Amino acid sequence: MSKEKCILAYSGGMDSTISVAWIKEEYNIDVITLTLDLGGGPELDGVVERAKFAGALDTLIWDVKEEFVNNYIFKGLKAGALYEGVYPLSTALGRPLMAKKLVEAAKLHGATYIAHGCTGKGNDQVRFDAGIMTLSAHTDQIKIIAPAREWGMSRDEEKMYAQKVGLELREVGDEQKVYSIDRNLWGQAIEGEDLEDAWIIPPEDAYSWTKPIENTPNNFEDVVIGFEKGIPTSLNNKKLSGVKLIEDLNAIAGNHGVGRIDHLENRLVGIKSREIYETPAAIVLHTAINSLETMCLSREQQRVKQNLSQIYSDLVYDGKWFTELRSNIDAFIDDVLKFTSGEVKVRLYKGSTTVIGTKSNYSLYDFELATYSTKDIFDHSAATGFIDIFSLSSRTQAKKQTYKDAK
Ligand code: ARG
Repeated sequence: MSKEKCILAYSGGMDSTISVAWIKEEYNIDVITLTLDLGGGPELDGVVERAKFAGALDTLIWDVKEEFVNNYIFKGLKAGALYEGVYPLSTALGRPLMAKKLVEAAKLHGATYIAHGCTGKGNDQVRFDAGIMTLSAHTDQIKIIAPAREWGMSRDEEKMYAQKVGLELREVGDEQKVYSIDRNLWGQAIEGEDLEDAWIIPPEDAYSWTKPIENTPNNFEDVVIGFEKGIPTSLNNKKLSGVKLIEDLNAIAGNHGVGRIDHLENRLVGIKSREIYETPAAIVLHTAINSLETMCLSREQQRVKQNLSQIYSDLVYDGKWFTELRSNIDAFIDDVLKFTSGEVKVRLYKGSTTVIGTKSNYSLYDFELATYSTKDIFDHSAATGFIDIFSLSSRTQAKKQTYKDAK
């Protein structure tokens, strides 16, 4: 009788390579690895060989960049999703897509187990487990394995285990730093080592997508981003696919030191952790769309959208992607942004991102209303009547409940 099968989310790193052998031994099942390319330059070289060597029955590599951009990244961008006001949720937006693909692969290969490499301390285990369980809720066929959460091995024990099962792993020497990095097209998250001391300035070797300010060009660079209904569609007047636009913008803005975030963040599991991020394209695009929204939305639309942004960010961060509420908000945002089309000019200089011009065919900015010049058409005399009524309730209250009597 053939063994049951497990689809393992496989990055090619030490933990996930050991996991192949560990799952086979502990559960006596076959392991199929699934490596997902969400962009951002993950090292795919040798991934298949390593998984095979560790004993994988089959090795899958799926490029999901386009789906990631169109169905996850751009939804987050349109919703203004910045967790705690700063983190563009690069890792958090990637996890539901990975969960979805794991469930798809399980169905395709008749697997009854799905495994991921998360520990028991982070947010990602929640996102994977919740995503996988929600998407397979109708079958109840899928069991989850999280080796790193279950095996309780220290780093040294992991190395010993690797030796025991005959795995030679590309590992850096003990004296070298090993940051924990999660990377995709929307950004990279870096934690561990010196960063765990919240007082220590992040060491330069933690960064790889963004230049330190002292090495950035001494001249500014202006980029023009074109949006259609809230989706970025062109860069410097060239139509680009979402993937290419983000890739190019990561390189251009990273060169000017744009996109570094140092965040002491509230994890869902109750821990405060310090994480640094490099998200150059995300910062530029969030800044740009914000300016276009200011031009194309009414004040009330802006306010409601801002309130929803925070709710949406928490939903994404907390692994509640596959919920009705998330898609309800997306539907609302799509409607709100149906006239948010136009161009934004952004200046990149020494780590800063500054909007220096915005235009749209649907602009609510009306020069003749705004101007102080002779072109002014605003009816100044109407202002006094407006203020009379506008201040009526506060004047009435002030008369009846005189402030001088207030204690
Ligand atoms: N703190 C981020 C989040 O929860 C990133 C988590 C992964 N970070 C890492 N360095 N591996 O979304």
